[in-house]
Amino acid sequence: MAAAKEEVQRVPFGRLPTGEEVDAWVLRAGGVEARVVGYGGAIVALRVPDREGRVADVVLGYDDVQGYVDGRAYLGALIGRYANRIRGGCFRLDGREYALPVNDGPNHLHGGPLGFHRALWRVEPLDTTEGAGVALAHDSPNGDQGYPGAVRARVAYRLTARGELVVDYRADSDRPTPVNLTQHSYFNLTGDPARDILDHRLRLEADRFTPVDATLIPTGETAPVAGTPFDFREPAAIGGRIGADHPQLARAGGYDHNFVIRGGGLRLAARVHEPGSGRVLEVHTTEPGIQFYSGNFLDGTERGKGGARPGRRCGFCLEPQHFPDSPNQPAFPSAILRPGETYSSRTVYRFGVE
Ligand code: GLA
Repeated sequence: MAAAKEEVQRVPFGRLPTGEEVDAWVLRAGGVEARVVGYGGAIVALRVPDREGRVADVVLGYDDVQGYVDGRAYLGALIGRYANRIRGGCFRLDGREYALPVNDGPNHLHGGPLGFHRALWRVEPLDTTEGAGVALAHDSPNGDQGYPGAVRARVAYRLTARGELVVDYRADSDRPTPVNLTQHSYFNLTGDPARDILDHRLRLEADRFTPVDATLIPTGETAPVAGTPFDFREPAAIGGRIGADHPQLARAGGYDHNFVIRGGGLRLAARVHEPGSGRVLEVHTTEPGIQFYSGNFLDGTERGKGGARPGRRCGFCLEPQHFPDSPNQPAFPSAILRPGETYSSRTVYRFGVE
């Protein structure tokens, strides 16, 4: 078998305002091609075949590194230290109060304005016997964005011969701190970022979701999806009930909610089928929750790849995660990493056709 490193190519992507060069790492395996950059640890392209074998890029992104520097929608980025929201940017841990920058109305979102999506991760080819991969490393110092503890974050992206993108997250810390890492790719399985994603058919392996208040912070309860527009236990078009008269849809302007994934361990969380192209995306994860975000805040103002300006709902995110605001929600699975422990999670994006 060919050495995996040979499937990894490195091409120039651009220069940051600080003068640092950023390369794109091109991974190829199983008929899929992924491009990863160190800036934000972002996936900048993901090319997968449709049912006729025609390959198209199914993620939103920008053409150059400046796009990622200016971007506000976290397109394709790694998110940390804490994916999703923390109420008021405050939490208590071991009797101490911590204040984080507030960057989403009254709340802290996605690790803060200079979260891991703004870091220049170190990238090197991954030594793997199967497929092709890269290993990314980012060291976040004590006090970074208000969080305690020096955190070492490590993420591996690996494409397998079966056309799966495997993302492995690891972190450790020298003090207790919240950690919740995810991947913020926006998918559009048509391959056309100018089209909306409302016809995509979604299945979620979730019987319950976490309703939110007016600022999108969980109320603390988990509510059954049965009988609501949040019921995706059978495949349903994303757009089918998105305009329904439901207070939770009104609060978020569509879907922007954490679903409680049934079961534990690495299991199927979501499956999306795009009827036109036949493309299928399955998301498997070890995380307890997944944020399904229907791209409600995309507004066509950002210049995306090839000049396209993705508008409202022209991409959707499925962000495996611990539940939002867990540091303030004792009933939710804990997202606290303590010294001597290793944070570890895996997500697998499996592509196919139907
Ligand atoms: C997450 C949030 C959304 C939005 C996007 C980024 O998915 O839940 O509300 O902030 O990130 O625009």
